[in-house]
Amino acid sequence: MTADAGIDPSRRIPPSEQPARLDALEAAVRARTPLVPEVGIVLGSGLGGLADDLEDAVAIPFAELPGWPAATAPGHVGRLLLGRLGGRAVAMLQGRFHLYEGNDPGLVVQPVLLFRRLGARVAFLTNAAGGLDPSFGPGTLMAVTDHINLTGRNPLIGGNAASIGERFTDLTNAWSPRLRERLRAAAAAEGVRLAEGVYVGLTGPNYETPAEVRMLAALGGHAVGMSTVLEAIAARWAGLEVVGVSLVTNAGAGYSGEPLTHEEVLAAGAEAGPRLARVIRRFVAELE
Ligand code: HPA
Repeated sequence: MTADAGIDPSRRIPPSEQPARLDALEAAVRARTPLVPEVGIVLGSGLGGLADDLEDAVAIPFAELPGWPAATAPGHVGRLLLGRLGGRAVAMLQGRFHLYEGNDPGLVVQPVLLFRRLGARVAFLTNAAGGLDPSFGPGTLMAVTDHINLTGRNPLIGGNAASIGERFTDLTNAWSPRLRERLRAAAAAEGVRLAEGVYVGLTGPNYETPAEVRMLAALGGHAVGMSTVLEAIAARWAGLEVVGVSLVTNAGAGYSGEPLTHEEVLAAGAEAGPRLARVIRRFVAELE
């Protein structure tokens, strides 16, 4: 069954419409599995391999979920999976909805809202990013300590849905210090180096200019990408604890003098992805 026909992903979805949409999404998932995830994990570019570690997995292509278009970004498969990772029940998004594909912010954040609706308490957000900190070479894993939303968009604009969250969402500790501590412990136990820093989210799809990279670094950013910030905002709105890692696939534009390519982003993701997968698996297995 494909529900994709006639979907306009740019159609505006205010917060007030999310509950009805989540009703339909929840019903579609529950028709396939009763599994109640503890954690919802979004797998960014090149990180899709973690989905192979899932046990007893039920995989649902995006296009078979009501209101969801098929994922279009290269390197993104576009499936929601439910199963067990390290013995714990999780939901995974293999691929995500990006603003640069023309998706409305309300659609971009629907997967994390669905995680919450299915029972998850924690959202684990991952992404591929460019390094703004000059010490971050390709393959650096960066625990996200905070973010700067420079997309100019916000998923919470429009009538609020009080059944999901409050009108004015606090983002003081949006990226949970408690979970980041657990993440550091998981990385250390796996012998994986984990940097920390601030993720800057832009819409893309172009990579930044060298001047923009210098500006974003001066603003306090350590990594830059085209996702994650709207998801983190919506997750906090819905009461999820948020933790995340940027996989730095390349130095920011202008640092190396060479042009950036999507191929190098995917190659660095393929190299570092398995390292991050080990950290995530242990983090989930040892979550309290
Ligand atoms: N900029 C923005 N997004 C990215 C980059 C980058 O350099 N690398 C991977 N995703």
